[in-house]
Amino acid sequence: MRIVLMGPPGAGKGTQATAISQRLSVPHIASGNLLREHRAKGTPLGEEAGASMDKGLLVPDGLVIRMVLDRLNQPDAKDGFLLDGFPRTGEQAEALDKSLGLRGVQMALNIAVGTDELVKRLGGRLTCRTCQTPYHPVTAPPKVARRCDKDGGELYQRDDDKPDAVRQRIEVYNKQTSPLVEYYGRRGTLKEINGEQAIDHVQTAIFAALGVKA
Ligand code: AP5
Ligand code: ZN
Repeated sequence: MRIVLMGPPGAGKGTQATAISQRLSVPHIASGNLLREHRAKGTPLGEEAGASMDKGLLVPDGLVIRMVLDRLNQPDAKDGFLLDGFPRTGEQAEALDKSLGLRGVQMALNIAVGTDELVKRLGGRLTCRTCQTPYHPVTAPPKVARRCDKDGGELYQRDDDKPDAVRQRIEVYNKQTSPLVEYYGRRGTLKEINGEQAIDHVQTAIFAALGVKA
């Protein structure tokens, strides 16, 4: 299946993505994770993207579109994918549609969460330096303090999870990305998910929307 996972920063996209991608046997392709990998490796793309990311602003469309479309052309994405954090602007959505042609996006899942809850979640989030899995000391604690359950990687606070950048990211989402909910609504591919419930209940709602059993 070709799926787009949408929702504001902190809605739980990364948290839900592993289970969805395993259940559907499609790769999880997260634009934010790809960009952070570029930064960690010190590539020119990573260097160019860094300043926007730390401020909580969007990376220019041209850079992100090229990076994601290249990734979608890898053989493992031939029969489907779970896109997380892309598209985020009208230009990105149109570039994706153009590249998929008649195949198109089959479902856009929108995880909705109110602003106060987003701020609370992002303020406490810890992320694995190795695989980028998100944790939270209260709602999604790791088994061993500050270590990833999957690979033992160190858990750290992302620079853009500091309060000023969080506020900026939410503002940017409301202005530049939220109109895409309507974009997919018009195409009849949108499914709304209530993201303000426990993590396993959100997963149940997503699987129901996808029409698959856990
Ligand atoms: P990106 O990495 O995509 O960040 P984001 O969209 O802001 O999303 P997050 O990773 O913050 O949140 P999430 O929804 O995955 O939440 P999570 O599951 O971690 O983008 C970062 C930056 O890269 C952007 O600002 C931009 O600069 C750039 N960028 C990326 N893509 C781009 C694009 N397409 N175009 C231009 N620029 C781009 O959950 C959050 C926390 O809550 C965790 O601690 C988790 O444990 C907890 N939690 C999750 N679910 C629940 C629940 N149900 N109840 C309680 N707690 C929960
Ligand atoms: Zn990890």
